[in-house]
Amino acid sequence: MGLFGPLKPLHRAEEDGKALAKTLSWPHLMALGIGGIIGTGIYSLTGTGAGLAGPGVLLSFALCGIVCACAALCYTEMATMIPTAGSAYTYTYSALGETLAWIVGWALILEYSLACSTVAVSWSAHLFGWLHDGVGLQLPAMLMNAPHAGGLINLPAVLVSLAVMGLLLIGARESATLNILLVIIKIVALGAFIFFALPAVQAGNYDPFAPYGFLAHEMEGKKYGIMAAAAIVFFAFFGFDAVSTSAEEAKNPGRDLTIGILGSMGISTIIYMLVAGAAVGAVNFKEFAFSGEALPHVLRSLGQPLVATLVGGAALVALPSVILVMMYGQSRIFFVMARDGLLPPAVAKVNKKGSPALITTLTGIFVAVFAGFFPLDEIAALSNAGTLIAFVAVAVSMLVLRKKMPDVVRTFKTPAHWLVGLVTIGGCIFIFSSLQVKAQMFTLIWMAIGLAFYFSYGRWNSRLRKGA
Ligand code: ALA
Repeated sequence: MGLFGPLKPLHRAEEDGKALAKTLSWPHLMALGIGGIIGTGIYSLTGTGAGLAGPGVLLSFALCGIVCACAALCYTEMATMIPTAGSAYTYTYSALGETLAWIVGWALILEYSLACSTVAVSWSAHLFGWLHDGVGLQLPAMLMNAPHAGGLINLPAVLVSLAVMGLLLIGARESATLNILLVIIKIVALGAFIFFALPAVQAGNYDPFAPYGFLAHEMEGKKYGIMAAAAIVFFAFFGFDAVSTSAEEAKNPGRDLTIGILGSMGISTIIYMLVAGAAVGAVNFKEFAFSGEALPHVLRSLGQPLVATLVGGAALVALPSVILVMMYGQSRIFFVMARDGLLPPAVAKVNKKGSPALITTLTGIFVAVFAGFFPLDEIAALSNAGTLIAFVAVAVSMLVLRKKMPDVVRTFKTPAHWLVGLVTIGGCIFIFSSLQVKAQMFTLIWMAIGLAFYFSYGRWNSRLRKGA
């Protein structure tokens, strides 16, 4: 028993991990990682980031890349040490105790579910632009936008969420293979963007580099600055952690997870720096500030409507792969929390194919509701808030276990673990403090609801507390 409730023994976490079939190796995991990382963050939020920071959004990307690379190292150590589904939630359960684990699990709902909703909304924005500029078809704005963004409901976002849910219900194995194809499409499209935008770069577009300064500060009810943009484009970097939620399905966790997590993170960061640098250098950032389909927008401004249509089309085909990875991760986290007794056991029931059908359906509906009724940047900020909490928890867990259990075998050891751990924790707190105030407030309320739920259900039904 720790300060924050019972601790899940490491071997127990591993034994629990034997329930799901081991079918994935590192190419699957790397594709799963890139499938989760590259998406709305670069395709859409580059526009919001540029609007909040100007060309300085490049620095926002770089800072988030550093913090997320450190977080990825902590994740890799924990995922190889505790190869079980549940990711940050399970690591916190073993290192810090049940109450904090619950808080992290609850934060992961924001991360995973709302990331799915964000991507669904961004998909809808691409559909609108693609049909309008590519085919000349104008969809009714009322059915393409959330109520706060000038519409009634974002119907395409709802439909794409439910479609991906259906795919997951058919079976994860098929989905992982399809994911590899989508990842290739996404990378080719970003390559095409770089190819056409980079030669158009003019030094003048980088000047002034930081029109709104560095630190996040409020202007007319909204935070601007390089850090305010960092708090949004942070979205572009996570998703690698979804790989660690598949740890129990990895054939050779030590090798497969290390290559999967670090490889997907490294490749994505390099691509982002090139794309963002080309975007803000090729046109004035005001041209595509706050655009929901930033990259096609830049290409159209450059007089490349055909390439814009192709890149937008690639986003349409490939963005659902991010929803796929994140929704998969979410259903597995709920599954583990229910198996631990913190959520009702009915949630953990698996169907004949071995996938948790009920929880996948509930997750799909939750995702669809947020996608239908909230605007892009607001849900992205909430998803970021949940992720930042999870990253801090993983770094703290890594440091605590190094101290408490120095002799446990670690297939992967974080280099300079104090430095990397503290950069992750400090960086995430700094980024959280730069989020829009509304997102910070909503997160606190969400956490209060989570704690109320824990003290009325999970606390009394926890399998560890019951000695099961
Ligand atoms: N990193 C993922 C994206 O940008 C969540 O879509």
